[in-house]
Amino acid sequence: MDTTQLQRTVAAMVQAPKGLLAADESPPTIARRFASIGVESTEENRRAWRNVLLGAPGLADSVSGVILYEETLGQHSDDGTPFPQLLEQRGIVPGIKVDRGKVPLANAPGDEITEGLDGLAKRLQRYREQGARFAKWRAVYNVSPTLPGPLAVKENAHALARYAAICQQEGFVPIVEPEVLIDGDHAIERCSEVTEQVLHAVFHALHRQRVALEAMLLKPSMVLPGKGSAKASPESVARHTIAVLRRTVPAAVPGVFFLSGGQTPEEATANLDAMNRLGPQPWVLSFSYARALQEPALAAWRGDPANAAAARRALVHRARMNARAREGRYEPAMENEAGR
Ligand code: 13P
Repeated sequence: MDTTQLQRTVAAMVQAPKGLLAADESPPTIARRFASIGVESTEENRRAWRNVLLGAPGLADSVSGVILYEETLGQHSDDGTPFPQLLEQRGIVPGIKVDRGKVPLANAPGDEITEGLDGLAKRLQRYREQGARFAKWRAVYNVSPTLPGPLAVKENAHALARYAAICQQEGFVPIVEPEVLIDGDHAIERCSEVTEQVLHAVFHALHRQRVALEAMLLKPSMVLPGKGSAKASPESVARHTIAVLRRTVPAAVPGVFFLSGGQTPEEATANLDAMNRLGPQPWVLSFSYARALQEPALAAWRGDPANAAAARRALVHRARMNARAREGRYEPAMENEAGR
């Protein structure tokens, strides 16, 4: 396979000091986010919200790519520009979430599997015509003393690798997203153990499916204690996460773009910063946050067009803080910077 074009897309996505904005919430997820600010999830409200995000002045200084949902790929900004074109004009690479969500894994109580492989190559051809250049697929792993079971670890790795192989065949850079969930009261050591098993299985499957590691990106969860346990310091999260990544992620992978997974915006920034302070690693360590980038902006917007400018400032502020964290140069005092 000639991966030259894929690697050009990767180079645009990993450029310093940027990260990715995940704005690919499915209809049930965006409905939950909107409910928290009293906004109804209509097609027009979803378009209006994505218009606020994607048109934010200064976004391109800290964001190199945006993950969109299928519906958004076909929608337009207020001035009629299709969203993927708007992003390209701004120097931001448009991407698309392509998985169809998770369902219970048969014969494995408590475990889940992600669907969406059937017909994926055909769908990608359509998304390409609409302007998308990279894709994302999320697998989720519940944590308990016995979960995830070996079947869930193996089958989700297989689906992620099949998805990645199909993406590369169709000219898309795959973002491979195995998310070990934060739900539960487990210790950070248990998350570490599960994440290591999961990533080991994922890279084994990617190897078997002959995925070009140079032409993909990894979007993992950080190694954290369960949300029912006491929080760990950024230094502890950084040490545990980097130890697991170094054991499992080959150096050929150009970038590791974390999800935020239920951390507060400031925690997600501080934890990324602590990792980048541990010194150079084989891969770029950056962000691909949804909630940790969007939450303050959503709270400022509240569905009112008069608040669009304030919402955009809140988004760009968080993106800038995370761009600093990508370089290991974030200080909490920067949260009060002028221009916020
Ligand atoms: P969070 O950063 O809110 O975890 O979302 C990232 C994402 O893309 C989930 O699939």
